[in-house]
Amino acid sequence: MTQHDRLLIIDFGSQVTQLIARRLRELDVFCEIHPYQNVTDAFLDAFAPKAIIFSGGPDSVTRAGSPRPPKKAYELGVPILGICYGQQVMMQDLGGKVEARHGSAEFGRAYVTPSDDRIDLLAGWFLDGTGREQVWMSHGDHVSEIAPGFEVYATSPGAPFAITADLNRRFYAVQFHPEVHHTPNGRTLYENFIRDAGFTGDWTMGAYREEAIQKIRDQVGDAKVICALSGGVDSSVAAALLHEAIGDQLTCVFVDHGLLRLNEAEEVVGMFRDHMNLRVIHAQEQDLFLGELEGVSDPETKRKIIGKLFIDVFQKYADDIEGARFLAQGTLYPDVIESVSFSGGPSVTIKSHHNVGGLPEKMGLKLVEPLRELFKDEVRVLGRELGLPASFIGRHPFPGPGLAIRCPGEITREKLDILRKADAVYIDQIRKHGLYDEIWQAFVAILPVRTVGVMGDGRTYDYACALRAVTSVDGMTADYYPFSHDFLGETATRIINEVKGINRCTYDITSKPPGTIEWE
Ligand code: XMP
Repeated sequence: MTQHDRLLIIDFGSQVTQLIARRLRELDVFCEIHPYQNVTDAFLDAFAPKAIIFSGGPDSVTRAGSPRPPKKAYELGVPILGICYGQQVMMQDLGGKVEARHGSAEFGRAYVTPSDDRIDLLAGWFLDGTGREQVWMSHGDHVSEIAPGFEVYATSPGAPFAITADLNRRFYAVQFHPEVHHTPNGRTLYENFIRDAGFTGDWTMGAYREEAIQKIRDQVGDAKVICALSGGVDSSVAAALLHEAIGDQLTCVFVDHGLLRLNEAEEVVGMFRDHMNLRVIHAQEQDLFLGELEGVSDPETKRKIIGKLFIDVFQKYADDIEGARFLAQGTLYPDVIESVSFSGGPSVTIKSHHNVGGLPEKMGLKLVEPLRELFKDEVRVLGRELGLPASFIGRHPFPGPGLAIRCPGEITREKLDILRKADAVYIDQIRKHGLYDEIWQAFVAILPVRTVGVMGDGRTYDYACALRAVTSVDGMTADYYPFSHDFLGETATRIINEVKGINRCTYDITSKPPGTIEWE
């Protein structure tokens, strides 16, 4: 348990509940999302929230048996903000009326205008001279009568009760979603709400770092911990934090499968071992992995081979570390949030491609997950606090199977060497043009075709490659990055001149969907 002021988000199943948490974390407020099924009276006592938010949700409060918060939530004397479904639930629970959808629903951009009475919740709203604010609506049902004690503070054409509040009890109810981008002033509304609730903004990374270190020490005692270090942001920050907490009780294993980028192993091992003094075992298993992958061209078979070998290799090295009782994982908060499922009870989302899946039980290890309260952007802030170089923290994601899935068809050492060089030139170009941080992920794929070219007086017959660069938020959907033609021309020229073995460059302009980010 943290000692921070805590805000509870009761999740009724909205697609955007996580965004509420992110907005609040940005305001230095510690909050947790819990599915409504789990929020019992006892839970509320234990959690002791300083404020509560009811999320939106897909159900209709007019349906018997629809999701509810416990009555006790209203009796705690803490401020509550109800959003969309959460607003309707609040109104109905407190004596108002909600009508089921009839005719059309209201989805998308809408504009709210204020009543004459101004409230603190809306401080900073309606100031741009238009007399209205843009908000994002997404509802079928609507409140037809507000609960006793509530007043209306803003309306929209489709929602006469767009913003209502009972100022005595500090209950606020909004029909729209202030957490989404399309409610441009939504952040101010959250800011006002948490100020009213008395939050002091005590969720800072500096404070969290000290707390997390103490927590790790309490959990681990004097036992040894092992950690699979990949050089990605999550495992790097987890390792740095653990090292600060328990020093040499931590041993990291960096598995080199021969499918890494140019100089990657040296950079990662060099930084953690030589620069930061962590115990790092550099498992040089290139021959094992590349041997097993010989002649394999099916992408899923490649993944299975690499995943299985990774676990075998990690276990082999871990077995040699005497007294290891914990395995560290860079699990993040979005991996552990229980989501509301309407087909059954709450369900847990777990990363599907976890590198060390199943290992802890097999090896009799307990898990230590020092990042499980953090969102990805918070992990980056923590990494900076811990002194990791910006170049590590801002790195593009890199898949566990590495270059194997950027080399469609059979993998050979020759192709991997060519690919590494081309990728290094491409990334160098992107950095030189100041574009690295604008792009979510960029890489080269070497294609399993040779093409004819002419260089100097001679004919060439070399590989073609594809450059890929995408923007994305979470990798689930992606758009190709709109490089200028000049950039693409210059980059193709550099790759073809500097990388022996490639004589043709293409740029992949497929979005996801229908494509995927990786080629395999
Ligand atoms: P796709 O290609 O599915 O990629 O659009 C989405 C994101 O996931 C990464 N990726 C993987 N990461 N093991 C991983 O650890 C994998 O097998 C794997 N496949 C794809 C990909 O790099 C992108 O960031």
